[in-house]
Amino acid sequence: MNTLDSSYFQQRRDRLAQQMGANSIAIIATSPQVYRNRDADYKYRADSSFYYLTGFAEPEAVAVIETFSSGQDYRYVLFCRERDRQMEIWNGYRAGLEGAVEQYMADEAVAIDDLDEEILTLLSNKDQLFYRLGHDAAFDARVSQWLKQVDAKQRQGGGSPAKIIQLDRLVDEMRLIKSAEEIELMQIASTISAKAHTRAMQMVRPGMMEYALEAELNYVFGQHGCVPSYNSIVGGGANACILHYVENNQVLNDGDLVLIDAACEYQCYASDITRTFPVNGKFSGEQKALYEIVLKAQLAAIHATQVGHHYRYPHEVASRILTEGLLDLGLLKGELNELVETEAYRDFYMHGTGHWLGMDVHDVGAYKQDQQWRAYEAGMVVTVEPGLYIAPDLEGIDDRWKGIGIRIEDDVVVTKDGPRILTHEVVKTVEDIEHLMSQG
Ligand code: GLY
Ligand code: MN
Ligand code: MN
Repeated sequence: MNTLDSSYFQQRRDRLAQQMGANSIAIIATSPQVYRNRDADYKYRADSSFYYLTGFAEPEAVAVIETFSSGQDYRYVLFCRERDRQMEIWNGYRAGLEGAVEQYMADEAVAIDDLDEEILTLLSNKDQLFYRLGHDAAFDARVSQWLKQVDAKQRQGGGSPAKIIQLDRLVDEMRLIKSAEEIELMQIASTISAKAHTRAMQMVRPGMMEYALEAELNYVFGQHGCVPSYNSIVGGGANACILHYVENNQVLNDGDLVLIDAACEYQCYASDITRTFPVNGKFSGEQKALYEIVLKAQLAAIHATQVGHHYRYPHEVASRILTEGLLDLGLLKGELNELVETEAYRDFYMHGTGHWLGMDVHDVGAYKQDQQWRAYEAGMVVTVEPGLYIAPDLEGIDDRWKGIGIRIEDDVVVTKDGPRILTHEVVKTVEDIEHLMSQG
């Protein structure tokens, strides 16, 4: 298994502490446990930024980083659950306070039950508080309460930080640029996800249910100890035109395409892949014509994902090619430049061409700087996912095009040598898809 070790997480805390400046404190809580329904909880997934800084995957944990007036060094305190034999018999292993220090390199570990009391001393007399306001209303309320309590003790020499700064501003920028080690984990997630798509192409048959095809994807994820990084979309025929279709409960019909947008996460790093292929293994003339346009747009947009180009440039490239293709097929009428400028393609292509990808499928990081689209830098990872969707009720369109939805999505690392595709292991040309599907 490929994992980041505890010193790797420490290096991230080092970098954060350096940016915080002297006499400051950062507080970051992990996600609360969420119940699906009475007594049954969702499988726990730590908050991405919390995990990024700690490597600690248990629920009920809060990390505190404090810097001192000297500006030198910092202290990392991890509040977590204490070991508890009874609770561990029912719910599993806990690192406990000893484990927090020994395995997770905390300078000090404190029981989470003591947080409300212990945090007051830590907050007292600091100049700046770095905190992620707006993630969890209940936790925000607790922080407000702590600040009030610290201020109430002012006459005894206390006082809350004068400045409160969004911690996300620092952590999101750190997360946006991926290291070689992180890209390796994303490559593993992508390789497993590519295998799942390949299996889906091999297993699909007319008459199968969409959820049965989803089960083939889940089989591959599960075989590698992974879970989906988002709800899988398996949309046959016109369901592919519903961008966030997740019901996956219809029959896959002979003659239709199926759009699968599904991928897994590995060690908290996500992949995000879409492929569209014929349920019976052979594209019809109309399906092929539209597919080739989307593929051409996707290849050009990937090529446009270069250091120095602005974030939106691949979208501009893709939109132009899609518009050209729609003009050629007679689905749009008019003058190319004007159609591009007025975004006439939006009836057929209504989403962006990509987003940051990392620990979250729609990963963190600002898209604009000084109100301008920011430029790609080496180490950024972005999806490239153009599509065309001819809704069944779109007016003024020949019936033969209606109900066809196509998207092709790959994950791309920006490198100084050009785009590196993490998800290349699943085929995407008409020829390769038909060849693969004819083998089964
Ligand atoms: N799978 C989510 C997305 O493509 O944005
Ligand atoms: Mn995506
Ligand atoms: Mn996707």
